[in-house]
Amino acid sequence: MNKPKRYTITSALPYTNGPIHIGHLAGVYVPADIYARYLRLTGNDVVFIGGSDEHGVPITIKAKNEGVTPQDIVDKYHAIIKQSFEEFGISFDNYSRTSAPIHHETASEFFKTLYDKGEFIEETTEQLYDEKANQFLADRFVTGTCPKCGNEEAYGDQCEKCGTSLNATDLINPKSALTGNVPTLKQTKHWFLPLDKHEAFLKEWILEGHKKDWKPNVYGQVKSWIDDGLRPRAVTRDLDWGIPVPVEGGEGKVLYVWFDAPIGYISSTKEWAEREGKDWEPYWKDEDTKLVHFIGKDNIVFHCIIFPAMLKAEGSYILPDNVPANEFLNLEGNKLSTSKNWAVWLPEYLKEFPGQQDVLRYALTANAPETKDNDFTWKDFQARNNNELVAIFGNFINRVVVLTNKYYNGVVPAPADFTQVDEETLAAVKAYPNVIASSVERYRFREAQQELMNLARLGNKYLADEEPWKVVKEDEARTQTIMYVALQIASALATLSEPFLPFTSEKLKNILNVTSSGVETSWDEVSEKDELLPVGHQIGASELLFVKIEDETIQFQLDKLEASKKANEAANKAVEPQKETITFDDFTKLDMRVGTIIEAEKMPKAKKLLVLKVDTGIDTRTIVSGIAESFTPEEVVGKKVTVLVNLAPRALRGVESQGMILMTENADGKLVFVNPDDANVSNGLQIS
Ligand code: MF3
Ligand code: ZN
Repeated sequence: MNKPKRYTITSALPYTNGPIHIGHLAGVYVPADIYARYLRLTGNDVVFIGGSDEHGVPITIKAKNEGVTPQDIVDKYHAIIKQSFEEFGISFDNYSRTSAPIHHETASEFFKTLYDKGEFIEETTEQLYDEKANQFLADRFVTGTCPKCGNEEAYGDQCEKCGTSLNATDLINPKSALTGNVPTLKQTKHWFLPLDKHEAFLKEWILEGHKKDWKPNVYGQVKSWIDDGLRPRAVTRDLDWGIPVPVEGGEGKVLYVWFDAPIGYISSTKEWAEREGKDWEPYWKDEDTKLVHFIGKDNIVFHCIIFPAMLKAEGSYILPDNVPANEFLNLEGNKLSTSKNWAVWLPEYLKEFPGQQDVLRYALTANAPETKDNDFTWKDFQARNNNELVAIFGNFINRVVVLTNKYYNGVVPAPADFTQVDEETLAAVKAYPNVIASSVERYRFREAQQELMNLARLGNKYLADEEPWKVVKEDEARTQTIMYVALQIASALATLSEPFLPFTSEKLKNILNVTSSGVETSWDEVSEKDELLPVGHQIGASELLFVKIEDETIQFQLDKLEASKKANEAANKAVEPQKETITFDDFTKLDMRVGTIIEAEKMPKAKKLLVLKVDTGIDTRTIVSGIAESFTPEEVVGKKVTVLVNLAPRALRGVESQGMILMTENADGKLVFVNPDDANVSNGLQIS
């Protein structure tokens, strides 16, 4: 196969301001993990790097909202995120964090090197300032209209709608995210990375060098930014959370989070190397090393333009060989959102689907947003599990293992003569390592996983066609041959499924008893060896690899999402702006009284209307009220209410309504009475 190579694989360092959800997993970590596992299995020298991105504005905002320190926030979520990655089998060689001393040192030094080399422009410019919060506003502290696409909710460093990277002063109608104030301008000194100076190199390196091998979505975005012209970009901020600017005049300022975070890949590699007694440098500086960044599409500009410009300016580093960024995953047709709680959170998934990490990994890879945004639906998740994992992969393995135990006490039988079908089947199995590899190497993980499933399909079909459970009644030798062939396929599946379904692969290896008995097959051996499970090898007892997911389980998830949607709608209902000021005299014109509903009936042929008799203390009068969709007549009789009694009467459907009952709406959109919260207030009392 391929000559072994050295690989440095990075996956975006997640912000530690919340747990991880399926979008992160599908877009970044599962593909990176498949890639890393595959490369290790094929004998390469791999370091797979992860870590938490613990600086940046969102973390300080969250800390402020919760009344705790930023450190509290990052400690909490770093632990949660790290655990989720472990639980989902993301096989990082090292998972670090940007608050670690080794990172502060590395990032500081990196900055100093560029500073000493004269790679920055030092400039005092006017930046947005919030007079009320006494703070400069950059990045997520400020929102406004994107000058490129018109999105009104663009941030000070990036528009999430069109992906453009922005300077805060580019925003049209900027507004402080802290106070809602319109910012003023105030002078402050910062260090800028002159991206324009690196334009020529970026053009040559990406536009000419990587036209063919980078994904079209990545290449296209990068090209459009470069074509628009690059400008100097501030790499420091007036903030107190982050890595202090390590040069003269930098007091009270920190490195911009997007300056320090990618250097986190390097610090994490150093941390790993120290622990493993290795040298980190070849992984970042040797031209033979392949550096690959796994990210989501909102990170493209930082990984394809800014970080490479930094690495190039520093001078001793290699540049990424590829940046296979994914598009976004949606959930049930809507954009995933942390703030709207529109997500499937990993810790929650694991509680509700214990031991079923591979099912999620499988469904996410099957639907990976590799070339366009894609949708995760619970129905598809269920179908992938029930129709593919259970019905094909699981069914095949179960039959092989159960029958081997039943016919041969679990011992691999000796085959007799192979038929043409047997020969073809065994030859087909041998082709899979290369077929899957070629997809993985081109970052086509969905396709690769489909091929894996095709191998399971081949096994399933082979058994269904050859029907050993029938043949066993008349032809002992033929049965042995069939079972022998099927066992070889099972063994191939155990090996080739590892990058995609690591937990299943391990379970299957245990069932086949290959790990401890030294007959474990390597990736390449699946192609090279004629026999994977030797005759006479003892396998273990059968155990189900996958279980059917029932409709109720899926409905429960859908109900949860529905509840999120409702809560959001209620929370997001825009508060109406205040009406024009009125005088006290205007107010006293309203005559509002406490009343009691004494009779109620539906208005015939009107969905919304109830005809009420209300004791107002002054009289008993008829009021027609549009509350029939929220209340039955029985429910409202006896209710104390507030009534506007001097509203000019008007006829509704021929019934004269003599007043109005004050109402409002609860979170579910149901009407509720604005009522005096005391049973002792008597009818007729005036509200003032
Ligand atoms: N924290 C960023 C995000 O979640 C990703 C940082 S990637 C790194 O979008 F390169 F900066 F580390
Ligand atoms: Zn935009």
